[in-house]
Amino acid sequence: MSITTTTDTLVTLEKVTKTYTMGEVVINALNGIDLAIKRGEFLAVLGPSGSGKTTLLNMLGGIDSPTSGRIVVDGEDITNHKRKQLTYYRREKVGFIFQFFNLIPTLTAVENVRYAWELAARDGGAPNTRPEKLLEAVGIGDRANHFPSQMSGGEQQRVAVARALAKDPVMILGDEPTGNLDFRMGKLVLGSLKELNDRGKTVVLVTHNSPIAAIADRVLHIRDGVIFEEEINEHPTPADEIVW
Ligand SMILES: Nc1ncnc2c1ncn2[C@@H]1O[C@H](COP(=O)(O)OP(=O)(O)OP(=O)(O)O)[C@@H](O)[C@H]1O
Ligand SMILES: [Mg+2]
Repeated sequence: MSITTTTDTLVTLEKVTKTYTMGEVVINALNGIDLAIKRGEFLAVLGPSGSGKTTLLNMLGGIDSPTSGRIVVDGEDITNHKRKQLTYYRREKVGFIFQFFNLIPTLTAVENVRYAWELAARDGGAPNTRPEKLLEAVGIGDRANHFPSQMSGGEQQRVAVARALAKDPVMILGDEPTGNLDFRMGKLVLGSLKELNDRGKTVVLVTHNSPIAAIADRVLHIRDGVIFEEEINEHPTPADEIVW
C-alpha cells in the first residue's frame, strides 16, 4: 500500500515490522506496515485476535520500538529512540486508553486526572483546561469525588479518557476501550472519543468489532500483521447509533 504524505500528516510509518523471538519460535507480529495518519483523523484498526493491533498501537505510542522500518510522529522520528526518549515522547504526545481502565484505585476521579495534569504541567505541557473541566467534558463532572470502586465501568473509562486529555496529547490511542463495557456504557465512551475528535484530536481506535469501527473516518483492516484493506467512511456512524 502506498503512502501519501502531506503537510497535515501527523504520523508516518514506513515498512514497519515487529518480530518477537521466544526461544526458537519467531513471531512476525507486524509484516511491513506503510501508513500515514492525518491530523484530526479518526482512524480505526480492525482485525481478529492476534492480527497485530496492539503491537501496532504500541509502535505508535512508543511503548515499544519496531524491528525495522521508520516511524515519525509530529515531526519526531521515534524509530531509534532510547527508553528515556520514548518515555518523554509518550508523556508529551500520547494519550492512552486501555481495555482495563488502569485508574489509581486510591485516588478519586478528579485526583486521577489531576495527577496526569500535574505531571504534564511539570514538563510545561498541561492544557489550560483544568481537571474538573476535563471530567465535565466527558460527562462525569458529578462523579469527581468518587473513587474508581464507586463508579461504573463506563464512568471509570471516561475518567481514563479525561486523564488521557490531561496532557493535551497530539493523539489518543484506544486499545479496545469498550472491550470491558456493556453496550450502553460502551456507546458513551465512543461518544466521548468522537466528541474529542470533532474538537480536533487525532484518534486511533483498535477493535475487533466492525460495527464499532464504523464510527471512524477510515478503517484499516489488519490480518497477520499486514494492512490488507482500507475503507474510507464517507458517513461515519454516530456513536449513539452503533450496535454491536
Ligand atoms: N511481547 C510479546 N512477545 C511475544 N509475542 C507477542 C508479544 N506481543 C504480542 N505477541 C504476538 O504477536 C502477535 C500479535 O499480537 P497482538 O497483541 O498485536 O494482537 P492483537 O491483534 O492485539 O490481538 P487481540 O485482539 O487478541 O488483542 C500474536 O501472535 C501474539 O501472540
Ligand atoms: Mg490486542
